[in-house]
Amino acid sequence: MIKQGVSLKTYNSFGVAAEAALFAVAKTIEDLQFILKDQRFASAWILGGGSNTLFCETPKTPIIQLAISGIEITEEQGDEVVIKAGAGVNWHELVLWSLEKGFGGLENLALIPGNVGAAPIQNIGAYGVELQDVFESCTLVNRNDQSVETYDKVACQFGYRDSIFKRELKHKAVITDVCLRLKKENYRLNTSYGAIAQLFTSKGISTPSPKEIADVVIDIRTTKLPDPKQLGNAGSFFKNPIVDHDQFEQLKSSFPDIPHYAQSNQNYKIPAAWLIEQVGLKGTRKGDVGTHKHHALVLVNFGNASGDDIKVFSQMVQQAVEERFDIRLQPEVNFCC
Ligand code: EPU
Repeated sequence: MIKQGVSLKTYNSFGVAAEAALFAVAKTIEDLQFILKDQRFASAWILGGGSNTLFCETPKTPIIQLAISGIEITEEQGDEVVIKAGAGVNWHELVLWSLEKGFGGLENLALIPGNVGAAPIQNIGAYGVELQDVFESCTLVNRNDQSVETYDKVACQFGYRDSIFKRELKHKAVITDVCLRLKKENYRLNTSYGAIAQLFTSKGISTPSPKEIADVVIDIRTTKLPDPKQLGNAGSFFKNPIVDHDQFEQLKSSFPDIPHYAQSNQNYKIPAAWLIEQVGLKGTRKGDVGTHKHHALVLVNFGNASGDDIKVFSQMVQQAVEERFDIRLQPEVNFCC
């Protein structure tokens, strides 16, 4: 279960070379409790699918890979069903499983890279839906005393790409499974997102099924976003920044065409991809790192870039955007060193 000198190249979707001095795999909650009791793993990095982690070449921190598998139905009532999935289940496999069963709720979240255990941490979201819309609860193991707790939706304090696991519980708890409340019928479908709505209108479909929505999402994602198996990347590298009303008004007077999404509290979300494109950095390359030609927010490893190369490139992007727009982009990707 515990190994030394393990290559992390295949454990991260950037495909960067890195080596963990200490590496442990947890296939069950009991495995995890056993590993956490080992003081060497007290501050270990918890690794899921490696789709949101950027490793430096020799991370000092030990790594625990969560490989808890299994999907089951835990509750069925009326038109609703609750499913439970292990933290190590691949997210997209779970989406496909739910669609095969005819369950609705996860269709907009198809093809998001990563594993189930990471989904609540950043409240994954795409095409108008976020995890919190279907979230029921998750099980946590406390890293200090290895006790097991359940957190419901309120306790998780979800926000845009945010939750309690990025704040008060950062490095304090490990998510071991996630329960989601889905619909068996009377689906609550969300087709409001521009590109999805356009595709259904052009196909003449007015009441799509969850599967049809997932197919469209898969189409859009495969067209716009590079497949990490072919070109190392971690999806969006930065979060979309949120600015307050005054800053937005200032930006709009200088950049009248600035795309924006009004938030509930008078703030505005600005697409980071647009900001990066405006500073001329879409589809640029420096050595083996660059931004993708179809999506400026996706940083890619063209071959042999190191984690540090990608980090330096990302700082150059941050600086260029900050100089032009006075907005500091915050990484969505986590750095493990
Ligand atoms: N845009 C550009 N240049 C580009 C790409 C996009 O100017 O190269 C502008 C366009 O105005 C476009 C807007 O950015 O309308 C938004 O682009 P997109 O619809 O691709 O969404 P995004 O805001 O860049 C977010 C998520 C994605 C998710 C999509 C779809 C974040 C940080 N990213 O991206 O999530 O798939 O919406 O809902 O919120 C991920 O987190 O890894 C991820 C891929």
